Amino acid sequence: MTNSGIEIHKGLNGVYFDRSDSCFIDGGIGKLLYRGYDIHDLAEKSTFEEVVYLLLYGKLPTIPELSAFDNDLRSNRELPSGVLDVIEAVKNAHPMDVLRTAVSALSAFDEDVDDNSTEAIIRKGIRLTAQAPTIVASHHRIRNGKSPVKPNSRLNHAGNFLNMLLDKEPTAEESRILDVDFILHAEHGSNASAFAARVTASTVSDLHSAVVTGIGTLKGPLHGGAAEAVQKMAEAVGTPENAAAYVKNILDNKGRIMGFGHRVYKAEDPRARHLAERSESLGAERGEPHWFQILTGIQEAMKPYQSRGIYVNVDFFAGSIYYLLGIPEDIFVPIFALGRVPGWALNVIEQSSNNMLIRPLTEYTGPFDVEYVPIEDRES
Ligand code: CMC
Repeated sequence: MTNSGIEIHKGLNGVYFDRSDSCFIDGGIGKLLYRGYDIHDLAEKSTFEEVVYLLLYGKLPTIPELSAFDNDLRSNRELPSGVLDVIEAVKNAHPMDVLRTAVSALSAFDEDVDDNSTEAIIRKGIRLTAQAPTIVASHHRIRNGKSPVKPNSRLNHAGNFLNMLLDKEPTAEESRILDVDFILHAEHGSNASAFAARVTASTVSDLHSAVVTGIGTLKGPLHGGAAEAVQKMAEAVGTPENAAAYVKNILDNKGRIMGFGHRVYKAEDPRARHLAERSESLGAERGEPHWFQILTGIQEAMKPYQSRGIYVNVDFFAGSIYYLLGIPEDIFVPIFALGRVPGWALNVIEQSSNNMLIRPLTEYTGPFDVEYVPIEDRES
């Protein structure tokens, strides 16, 4: 509270701005539900395609519904050649910047771009979910002087992405690891990027613009950028024995340990355990168990912070998994975005279906009624 009596909510911390029936988070006990379904059930029993259907339509699909929906996703993976040209032109940028730019370019080729009906947002959401992996994979090929690998309609969403990115058909286990990763990243309430997407949608802009906003917001290390930072940290730590000293040094210098802490979760981030399990098993299988050991060493060193509500978050183990799958570090954040596209579409549907312009206030603390001095009379 300031002298004016205005209460400031920095970072909108703890502020409710709307109601939603799509995502429930209880950060005190580490509970996450998509449309009422527990994230643990979805991660263990579902597929990304099924979860996207659940998010967009509000119910789990029947077998024929899922089959038609999956066909829709598979048949929308190709990019217009104009978008591939744009990717070529910006190929030296960070993959997240390329993704943002290419999604923006896709709007020029989408016949529904200005249709903000729920049906059109769902159609566009499906197309963007299907096209975004092709952007990331094609860019990686193009920047390495290679032709993009064509989408393969025989492969599921996650498997096709890995195939296009690495030009190698993944095993069923590799596909499933990324499939689960996409499920865990698909939706997360009014997180920073979804809120930003809602702000864009609230002006009655369009889905492509909202997703571009979301990608730009996700990029930062306090949000989606942490997985890349965690892997860099694991490399810098080098061996499990170094973890405690490394953590102490960062914390003594008032730094932050990436992959720890969350605005909402003050207990376990329920998404993290699924990635921890896979980080451990994949590392053991690939003969590289030290990544998981380094990460658990860091986790051990951070134990005193649990009393302050600081636990590992979804990004902590994700980087090691991507690394073990052979994915370059600068593609870690784009992978988060590929999972989150349906969540952004869902937030735009919710915002648009009961819209009010999002326009908060800042309390003015500057001077009043300052005399205007012509430029030639100003003192240097
Ligand atoms: N390492 C060390 N100290 C931390 C950390 C951390 N990772 N996170 C929070 N703190 C401390 C922070 O220094 C502050 O201490 P003090 O009160 O003494 O100044 C206190 O905890 C509160 O921090 P805050 O930044 O005010 O709290 P927040 O709710 O805004 O923090 C966060 C959320 C994610 C920005 C923060 O935990 C952080 O910077 N984490 C590291 C980056 C990261 O892993 N981001 C991925 C988030 S999960 C993916 C997603 O859903 O976006």
